[in-house]
Amino acid sequence: MAGPTPLPSILEITPYKGGEAPKNGQKLSSNENPLGFSPDVRAALERASVHLETYPDGHATALREAIAGTYGLDAGRIVCAAGSDEIFALLGRAYLSPGDNIVQSRHGFLVYSLIAQQAGAKVISAPETDLRADVDAILDSVTDRTRIVFLANPNNPTGTYLPSDEVRRLHSGLREDILLVLDGAYAEYVRRNDYSCGFELAGEAPNVVITRTFSKVHGLAALRLGWAFGPAAVIDVINRVRGPFNVSALAQAAGIAAIGDTAFVNASVDHNTGELARLCSGLAGKGRDIAPSVCNFLLIRFQGGPPAAARADDFLRERGLYLRRLEAYGLPDSLRLSVGTRQANTAVLEAFEAIDDRMPA
Ligand SMILES: Cc1ncc(COP(=O)(O)O)c(C=O)c1O
Repeated sequence: MAGPTPLPSILEITPYKGGEAPKNGQKLSSNENPLGFSPDVRAALERASVHLETYPDGHATALREAIAGTYGLDAGRIVCAAGSDEIFALLGRAYLSPGDNIVQSRHGFLVYSLIAQQAGAKVISAPETDLRADVDAILDSVTDRTRIVFLANPNNPTGTYLPSDEVRRLHSGLREDILLVLDGAYAEYVRRNDYSCGFELAGEAPNVVITRTFSKVHGLAALRLGWAFGPAAVIDVINRVRGPFNVSALAQAAGIAAIGDTAFVNASVDHNTGELARLCSGLAGKGRDIAPSVCNFLLIRFQGGPPAAARADDFLRERGLYLRRLEAYGLPDSLRLSVGTRQANTAVLEAFEAIDDRMPA
């Protein structure tokens, strides 16, 4: 017997492969927080663990209020989910039909295309300029079947960003029936005066949604917690399609504690700023190009092409340093390195010195 048949497009999906978690060695492949998470979260989790028999607040009210208070937003226009990945999936479920398309930049975050494929929608990838999203190319890629434009800003895996005037230009070139999703997973790390994650735009436009996550600067990737801010009508739609208890009580309690611990967030960002600069200057040159990252990771491009990237990756793994290969992103000549602890970063710099001696690319 043939068994049940899924939607045809589902079988075309290549399942997402996360960064490898080595038993021994440094995981520098998933852009996690090398400082861990706030001690306030540990205490909050203990308190929240006392009553696991009761369902959580299905509206994550206290968490939405904590987020709203932190960023000066309207809590009624925030929805929480099991990671920002779940928000993308909910948007896909609500707004995409077979034959529609999404537009993203050439090296956009992989999950967007998975969401499109789940719905039977096509993925249009707009060319980038110097590994940066190109507003004109994105606008040129839009068709009458485009329903969502996804922009990770800053973008993973390139680490590059668009300044807010460029994001506004992108928005003003889109039809109002196209949803612009601005994914600010790494927003906290960006220290540029011309950057904004887009709260203002999402506050005033009927078709802009901002997504944010607790997985990165708050160090809570294991708990799965993200949120979206956007027009009341879009938030209402997400609330209709999400599961009634999609965010666990533990994640809600942890999120409230994490967002309240600004000292931990600041320490994480400070660590990242210093270490990113140290890595960038230490790794540049010697047959390698470093994309200008504003995040907690950086893209190393090997002038020797895919064989040089593969050789470097093998060499680093032998030394217990696990970076991310980027074939799935169409960047087989590159590796993505997450900023680690000071000690791990020093080990990476030393290993790259040795690679250079052994096998100039
Ligand atoms: C650009 C981008 N958006 C979203 C996510 C997913 O975040 P979450 O853990 O909230 O699902 C990631 C994770 O790597 C990311 O790089």
